[in-house]
Amino acid sequence: MSNLLRVDSDLLKKHRPSLLVRNIGQLCSLDTGNEAGPRRRTEMSELGMIENAALLICEDKIAAVGPEPELLKDVLQCESLGNLPVELEVVDADGFAVIPGFVDPHTHSVFGKTRQDEYERRIKGETYLEIAAAGGGIHSSVSDLRQRSEEELVDLTTGRLQEMLSYGTTTVEIKSGYGLTLEDELKMLRAAGRAAENVGIRLVRTCLAAHEIPKEYKDNRRAYVDLVTDEILVRVKAENLAERCDVFCEPTVFDLEESLIILSRARDLGMELTVHADELATFGGAQLAARLGAQSADHLIKIDSQGRQALAQSDTVAVMLPGTVFSLGIKNYPPGREMIDQGCILALASDYNPGSCNVMSMPLIMALACTQMRLLPAETLVASTLNAAWALGRGHEVGSLAPGKKADFLILDDSDYRIIPYRAGHNPVKTVFLGGQRVLNN
Ligand code: NIG
Ligand code: FE
Repeated sequence: MSNLLRVDSDLLKKHRPSLLVRNIGQLCSLDTGNEAGPRRRTEMSELGMIENAALLICEDKIAAVGPEPELLKDVLQCESLGNLPVELEVVDADGFAVIPGFVDPHTHSVFGKTRQDEYERRIKGETYLEIAAAGGGIHSSVSDLRQRSEEELVDLTTGRLQEMLSYGTTTVEIKSGYGLTLEDELKMLRAAGRAAENVGIRLVRTCLAAHEIPKEYKDNRRAYVDLVTDEILVRVKAENLAERCDVFCEPTVFDLEESLIILSRARDLGMELTVHADELATFGGAQLAARLGAQSADHLIKIDSQGRQALAQSDTVAVMLPGTVFSLGIKNYPPGREMIDQGCILALASDYNPGSCNVMSMPLIMALACTQMRLLPAETLVASTLNAAWALGRGHEVGSLAPGKKADFLILDDSDYRIIPYRAGHNPVKTVFLGGQRVLNN
């Protein structure tokens, strides 16, 4: 057996193989035989690449990965394609590349109306914060969402997730944060769950009740922090509506002390943590996330050297959202290249939301990360799959095509994965498989 063939023998003992994907020109399994955790430094460009490869699936999991001739002979005991088991479904990848499904670890996908009016205002010269201060921004999405039924939100979100799936996202994180009352936050999280179920996409939910101070609490901030810690998080946890808690930690939103109170409470309730950190101002959010052992610190446009050092020395994933920088028209991107070289675990996400970034395409995010942050195409692939899965605590289950993991993968429309960032704006995904099932053909 060559060292490129990897097999989950236990799985193959228990189940008959159900699907064989063969004639894969280039398989980026991301499995380097060391699946211990997320990738840092030069490991971020190791793709476990195999040419003329095949993928064998049992039920919803990867059973074997390797060069096609060896996989046929050593795993299926077939000398030729002519004597494959009759009940085995065979998919011919036509020599195209296969990669893991994308994991998008940061989105705000449940919302009502879109806000292209603000996009135009920004182009004319107003800033994101000026528009927010004038009653637009998150507040306008909050008043809109409060008036909508759960049903309506399920319908809107279902359409968006279906579109995300067509761009190859097979696992998505969705945050609340446009409700800012107990009932509206619960409504958002329930809608996220129902929409994901409609589409079949894997979902991780995050409570972001601390997205903004609602207008009615403008003069009593502390009372809103209490509502979040004493009621919203407690109910979210009791009803199992989110496994993580996020805070928009920013001088104009929640300060460090308020963020610490909310995140500590969530941790005591048994939730995982993530932070909107150093997005619009250098504020120490990255250090706070690292200190609390958060799963991720996200945005980081304004991270300073102390923040970078804190993340490099921690297991907190640095999630970068270059689509937001692009959509806001900001000139400076976060220091992705430098942070990889410094040893940070880097992941990419879309930040898909109605305000700062209405981009949901992970292929486009990879293109921005290449040209604007000087990440290599291979690094952007690891950052959008395996490291993104670790940012959500799902690295054992998804994010690479290692035997034993879920069979979530994409057949591209080219034989070289580098086509993804290179053809920016094009959707390179031909076919999407989720849990071993073909769910979409573009
Ligand atoms: O990630 N930073 C806070 N929240 C979103 C923007 C939300 C909105 O403008 O509606 C973000 O950029
Ligand atoms: Fe965000």
